[in-house]
Amino acid sequence: MTHAYPEVFDFAGFNAPSRIECDIYDLIVEGEIPAEIDGSWYRAIPDPAFPPKFAKDTYLSGDGMVSLMRIENGHADFKQRYVMTERLKDDRAARRALHGLYRNPFTDDPSVKGRDRTVANTTPVWHGGRLLMTKEDGLPYEVDPKTLETKGQFNYGGRLKSQTFTAHPRLDDDSGEMFFFGYEASGLATRDVAFCIEDKNGELQSEDWFQVPYCGLMHDFLVTKEHIVFPLWPMTADLKRLAAGGAHWVWEPEKGSYIGIMPRGGSVKHLRWYRLPARCSFHYLNAHSDGNRVHIDFAPSKVVMFPFIQDASGLHIPPDQAGGRGYVRWTFDLSKPGDDFEETPIGPGGDMPCVARKDAMKKYEVGYIQTFTPQNGPPHVAGPVGAGFNTVVRLDLAGGQHRMTGLGANATVQEHVHIPSRTPGHEGYLIFAVDRHDTMLSEIAILEAGNIERGPVARVKMPFRLRNQVHGLWVEN
Ligand SMILES: [Fe+2]
Repeated sequence: MTHAYPEVFDFAGFNAPSRIECDIYDLIVEGEIPAEIDGSWYRAIPDPAFPPKFAKDTYLSGDGMVSLMRIENGHADFKQRYVMTERLKDDRAARRALHGLYRNPFTDDPSVKGRDRTVANTTPVWHGGRLLMTKEDGLPYEVDPKTLETKGQFNYGGRLKSQTFTAHPRLDDDSGEMFFFGYEASGLATRDVAFCIEDKNGELQSEDWFQVPYCGLMHDFLVTKEHIVFPLWPMTADLKRLAAGGAHWVWEPEKGSYIGIMPRGGSVKHLRWYRLPARCSFHYLNAHSDGNRVHIDFAPSKVVMFPFIQDASGLHIPPDQAGGRGYVRWTFDLSKPGDDFEETPIGPGGDMPCVARKDAMKKYEVGYIQTFTPQNGPPHVAGPVGAGFNTVVRLDLAGGQHRMTGLGANATVQEHVHIPSRTPGHEGYLIFAVDRHDTMLSEIAILEAGNIERGPVARVKMPFRLRNQVHGLWVEN
């Protein structure tokens, strides 16, 4: 390698690229992994294989790495591989980064013009007997769930027409369906969105296209048993700006926000758009319908938090000043005209929300999020926003106390995933990577979801630093 990575937070300290592909058998465990935990934990990690073409690149441009922790009989084995995307193959052949700025092909080396440039680095998805590595700017790559060998790009044998595939599909365990969408579906900065359903057998059941009011960042969406909800926040893309070598996303609050709601089982022609003031969110905890009332639970902020989008928009607002009122429930009554909705606080601010899969799309009582609290230690640089969370929160939506836990003053936490229990009445477990900023090593923590304040029941010691994942996935054996 001819030069080093830039000395900016995206590539330094705990965020320094790792680039380690490995197999480790029988990791050292402190405490005891509950015997009933039997399955595979996958993580998607941006990990740039080469120093970026431009120093002002973002963490989120990193080549997709997939890790697998296989847990059985109290033992943990670990495997990590790059997703062999067309982009990584091209870069390896040239032994340098040929691709330019985040989601801007106009800044690429001419030798890769027209080649696939997605990095498949955001979310592992398991459905229909396939493991997909997704990123919302392109099609997913299928990966062998045991060996992590890349099989190739996936689009249902050419039947999917959308050029993109969200990193946040929604799974309905009752019907077996997977709901997903692609935005910028017909190309860069287009307003086209494809809303798709994969049936329980893994076949593409439907693909319905519609247009959003403007091309904006649509990272996640919501599904209830009766409705589909598409939020649109004013981070906008513009083809002229991209062609001039500019940023993909710019914050344009004057465009306002939109929430599109349609009946599940209906057509995109029935989308009703609510127009709202500018807000921003990337992830949604859960949603449910109660007749005509649709409830969506999330933590809207007042402006976008990502430093690379703030920079492109001439903004410099620290995370502690960009937040909103924490986690809230927005309720839309479809029987009423107009754009009004109700807002009810449900918890402190944060991100990385999840619920047990049995609770998805329904009225529910418990959710899990992450936040930063000064009593659990000082801020540490980690992850794509440059500020790691240090606290896991169990939200009690039935009126009880929210509960929190930290992992030590020198620790930040990566996204947790919920593991269901096979024991009746047991709330299951949360598993996540912990960044140890004193030793610059990682460990894996397993908490009892119903007793998070007791701390980990098991800590799996990693002999190296795990770069921060974006999202993870638990697959039962
Ligand atoms: Fe996400």
